[in-house]
Amino acid sequence: MSLLLTGIGELTTNDDELGTVTDAALVIDGASVVWAGPAASAPPADSAVDLEGRAVLPGWVDSHTHLVFAGDRTTEFAARMAGQPYRAGGIAVTVGATRAASDDELTAVVRRHVAEAVSQGTTYIETKTGYGLDVPNELRSAVLASAEVDEVTFLGAHLVPQGWDADSYVDLVCGDMLDAVAPHVRWIDVFCETGAFDGQQSRAVLTAGAKHGLGLRVHGNQLDYGPGVRIAVELNAASVDHCTYLTKSDIDDLASSETVATLLPACDLSTRQPLPDAQSLLNAGATVALASNCNPGSSYTTSMAFCVATAVLQMRMSVSEAVRAATWGGARALRRENEIGILRPGSRADIHVLDAPSITHLAYRPGVPLTYAVWRKGERAR
Ligand code: NIG
Repeated sequence: MSLLLTGIGELTTNDDELGTVTDAALVIDGASVVWAGPAASAPPADSAVDLEGRAVLPGWVDSHTHLVFAGDRTTEFAARMAGQPYRAGGIAVTVGATRAASDDELTAVVRRHVAEAVSQGTTYIETKTGYGLDVPNELRSAVLASAEVDEVTFLGAHLVPQGWDADSYVDLVCGDMLDAVAPHVRWIDVFCETGAFDGQQSRAVLTAGAKHGLGLRVHGNQLDYGPGVRIAVELNAASVDHCTYLTKSDIDDLASSETVATLLPACDLSTRQPLPDAQSLLNAGATVALASNCNPGSSYTTSMAFCVATAVLQMRMSVSEAVRAATWGGARALRRENEIGILRPGSRADIHVLDAPSITHLAYRPGVPLTYAVWRKGERAR
């Protein structure tokens, strides 16, 4: 059954030829977009919905979340707001709670956050393991997540768990843990940062993942300058995430590579870090993505609209740049930019309708819930 969405005041397609269309229409059939363009030339369809001048854009692509967790870190957050610094070691609190939770409890947490995200216009979600940190708990995190989200990343190298020295733990991650988890995930990631894994350990993890056929992602340059970006670019990672502390040479490396710089502004606000320098990245020609980094420690939000508003109001991205980064940029960070984060014939029917006439309202009306309707893979999700 085909469906015509008409009366679109402003259609953001992210397609170079179609661009942004006013007085637009879109036709979907099953899980795919089959037509997009000016309403006056729209083909007939089995049914139609008049959007009465509202803006339509691709659903948000949230390319960085950590949804398989249990427990709560409100106290740590409150201490941070009172002046304590954020430290990688806080992850251990969530590891304890996650290991103690049942499969059903973990699944319920993932589902609740996916539903929360979808209700705000997110239509494609990556999530990571990384709060298990032993073979059985990393494996179950991967298996549970793969039933609930679009893409799963193995992040056994999130923190060195208590009772281990770093090098022996890296051997476990690259050996038995990777053997167990690899069949259930598409990506491998490492937290390359002081207090987590150094450059040599990060390379070992990524190289082992690549040998298992996994794509590469890196948490890098979050809390200080460091080797994360350089390693990500050298190993052709799809994305290096955080990028809060970048040297000129990191920016040049990113600009001359296929590696996306994924910025996580909600995390920087919640950890009292400076916001990343998106403009220098864009001016240099790097591809920028925005993601929520939803997790209980450093960034407890599923709101991509909040990230977009922050990027515009505080990071000086234009609304178009921020929306593109949160849709097409996220898709590129997952190496799926021809399928999702774009609205043109053949793309996945992931559609976000705003209760507003233009995407500018995402920054003009910050904090206001503007999601009016959502189609995810062609199915009405809100
Ligand atoms: O992306 N940086 C490492 N991992 C998460 C933090 C997770 C936590 O604090 O629980 C992040 O910010």
